[in-house]
Formats: sequence, structure tokens, C-alpha cells
Amino acid sequence: MNDITQLLKSHRSDRSYLSTPIADDVLDDIVESAWRAPTSVNSQQVSLIVVRDEAKRRKIAELAGGQKWITDAPVFLTFVLDMHKTREGIEAEGKQQIAQQSVESLISGSTDVGIALGAAMTAARSHGLGVVPIGGIRANPEAMIELLELPEMTFPLVGLVVGYIDQPAQQKPRMSLAGFRHEEKYDATSLPDVIKAYNQVLTAHWQQTGRNDGDNWGNNTASYYQHIYFPKVQGAVLNQGFGVDK
Ligand SMILES: Cc1cc2nc3c(=O)[nH]c(=O)nc-3n(C[C@H](O)[C@H](O)[C@H](O)COP(=O)(O)O)c2cc1C
Repeated sequence: MNDITQLLKSHRSDRSYLSTPIADDVLDDIVESAWRAPTSVNSQQVSLIVVRDEAKRRKIAELAGGQKWITDAPVFLTFVLDMHKTREGIEAEGKQQIAQQSVESLISGSTDVGIALGAAMTAARSHGLGVVPIGGIRANPEAMIELLELPEMTFPLVGLVVGYIDQPAQQKPRMSLAGFRHEEKYDATSLPDVIKAYNQVLTAHWQQTGRNDGDNWGNNTASYYQHIYFPKVQGAVLNQGFGVDK
């Protein structure tokens, strides 16, 4: 273990923040860490919107389903899958971009966004800041697109709350490594036992942290995945000029 892996393994999402501002040089360091991340075919199909304005953060908190921590913390970053930028470069060469019509592009762009998000999270935590990713911005994607004035062929995939922590969160336990790491091939034999054990561990975690509404992993996941979690996404993706049928 070294300082960086120690930081990565101490990850937790924090949801209790002070309003203390983040110095410009610290914020620049976080943004530049995400900017330097690799992208598929050097497409650089990721853009980042930095929101510090309180009224705007309040609006985003509301659009994300009433997530108070977005208003409390001083900075909200929105990670945008950006094929507007790639189209600009391609059209400047007199050529036509068609890749945005494919599921493949959504997967590769989402992968790139995820890598940038991870880099920003690690950078922020290395400065002693807390973070929590916010997929909740996809609950009302059209309104986010309007609020951030996102052009055609862009999509707000995920946000990140960044701020100084008030009440630190306890680290949430994971399923044992046997449910994550496979050697040479996928091996599902131990999965039922791994899940059963994790259900107990997670239930104990909720009890220990005073969350009476906490449920075991299977039930918690079902509460999201028994239906389409953010049903407005497909329509908004299509409206932005992406396709999903190739
Ligand atoms: C892509 C993504 C989207 C997320 N969206 C939200 C969100 O909208 N609101 C929230 O409070 N937490 C959100 N989270 C945080 C997860 O709930 C959290 O990572 C998970 O419960 C594990 O807890 P931990 O991060 O503290 O280990 C999101 C995490 C990821 C990776």
C-alpha cells in the first residue's frame, strides 16, 4: 500500500458539508486532474461544467430529487459526454460524424466520463475535501441541459459535489472481494454465499450508523432496479441528437 492506494481505499461518499469556499488553485488542480484523464481514441469527448453559484446549485439540488448536499457544498461539477466537440473538429475537416448514432459511442463516452469523474474524486480527496457523485442529475436531464445551456450532442451524465466535510460519513462496507475479483474466467459459484454474507454486513452497517430505513443489499438494489431508475434519460439522449439503435 502507498499514499495513493491508501487514499483510494479510504473512499467514502460524504453528504454533510460546510459552506467554506474552495480556493481557486485547489479547484484548478481538481479540474486539471480530470482534464488530463485518458479518453477513447483521444476523442476528449468529456467536458466539465463548474457551478459555484448558490442559486444554480439550489436548482440542481431540486432537479436531482432534493439532494441537500448539492446546496450545502460550495462547488458542483457536471461531467458532460461531449460529442459536440468531436463533431466540430470533424466538420472543420469537411467530414461528417455519425458515431453519435451508436450505443458504442454512449458506452465509450460514458467510460471516459467515469474515468474523469474518478480522477476528480481522487484529486479532491487528496486536498482533504469530501465528494459525492450525483447520478440524480439524470432524473430531469432536459432541465439540466437547459440550466447549463448544453448544446446538441452533449449529455450531462453525472455530477460531483465537492466541499469541506462537516460530519464525516462512515465508510460503507463492500461485498467481499470474492464477489469482485475473478481469476482467468468469471466464476459465479461463490456468489450466492457472498451475497448472503454481504446482506448481513450491510444490514449491520445501517444499524450501526442509525439508519432505520436501511435494507439489505438485494432489497436496496431492487428498490432502484425493479423499475427504470431514470426513465427520462432515453428521450433526452435522443433529443440531444444521439442514437441508440446502431
Ligand atoms: C455514478 C454514481 C452516481 C451516484 N449518484 C448519487 C446521487 O445522486 N446521490 C447520492 O447521494 N449518492 C450518489 N452516489 C453515491 C452512491 O450512493 C455511493 O457511492 C454508494 O452508496 C457507495 O457508498 P460510498 O460511496 O460511500 O462507498 C452515486 C455514485 C455513483 C458512482
